[in-house]
Amino acid sequence: MSPKKARRKRKIAFQNPAGASKQASPGEFESAGGAADFVFSRTKLRPQIALVLGSGLGAFAEEFSDATKIPYGEIPYFPRSTAVGHAGQLVIGKVGAVSVAGMQGRVHLYEGYSAKEIVFPVRVFARMGVKAVILTNAAGGIKREFSQGRLVVISDHINLQGVNPLTGPNDERFGLRFHDMTGAYDRRFREMAVDEGNHLGIGMYEGVYAALTGPSYETPAEIRYLRTIGADLVGMSTVPEVIAARHSGMRVLGISCVTNAAAGILDQPLNHLEVLETAERVKGQFFNLLKAVIPRIAAAIA
Ligand code: HPA
Repeated sequence: MSPKKARRKRKIAFQNPAGASKQASPGEFESAGGAADFVFSRTKLRPQIALVLGSGLGAFAEEFSDATKIPYGEIPYFPRSTAVGHAGQLVIGKVGAVSVAGMQGRVHLYEGYSAKEIVFPVRVFARMGVKAVILTNAAGGIKREFSQGRLVVISDHINLQGVNPLTGPNDERFGLRFHDMTGAYDRRFREMAVDEGNHLGIGMYEGVYAALTGPSYETPAEIRYLRTIGADLVGMSTVPEVIAARHSGMRVLGISCVTNAAAGILDQPLNHLEVLETAERVKGQFFNLLKAVIPRIAAAIA
């Protein structure tokens, strides 16, 4: 590029510092709309609640009635999950009387996807008119009470992934350039989840989730650092999706399944098999909690 052209480009960037909506990332709104139309062409249901089912938790969608299963590969522009424990299909169906969309598996930064690709399904939910998103994950427990098998309602997060899915030009049809992240994890939904968990005798906790990119697990020193900065849980997902969901005004519930004590807390190494085995062991409890919370969320957003 000639110096003159480069100067002109810098000048335009300066006049348009936050990225005006007119120059929004080409086509994201349209591609998400196309994917939403595709999903709607496969089912008569119109879900108001979407669920992202993390490692080992995808089986919840097997319990939907009137289910339509759509492999991610068939949905236009949808990213494909490569992680073990992630089936990679969208299931539209009903939990009781409530129509829901459930993602059996998600994609992660550690698979090589960009933050924007990771949140594409959330963009699709926004275009489908979904009002609430329930994000689930497997996490390492940093807080000592968060022992293996506990279910923890996420109260807030710390983004240590070094990226944000909203960098670049903003498309105001999705949301504001600078959107608020106070109360990103809906207070009412959190209360409902704790309440229902306690009714079920699960003994619910709340905690702050720190997201790193992975794929390596943390070092014990990193876990000590995370505890110092206020994290109770650690994982490799969820945060980009929460940011995108809030960008479009969808209300969020986040629930972590503590699949292991974080690195260095116990005198033993971490492995992914343990993560999947723990998720498998507690999934009954987890599913009961989701079944109890979904009708209450549906009533709250009606
Ligand atoms: N660290 C990061 N991600 C995780 C962990 C962990 O200990 N357990 C499950 N996902």
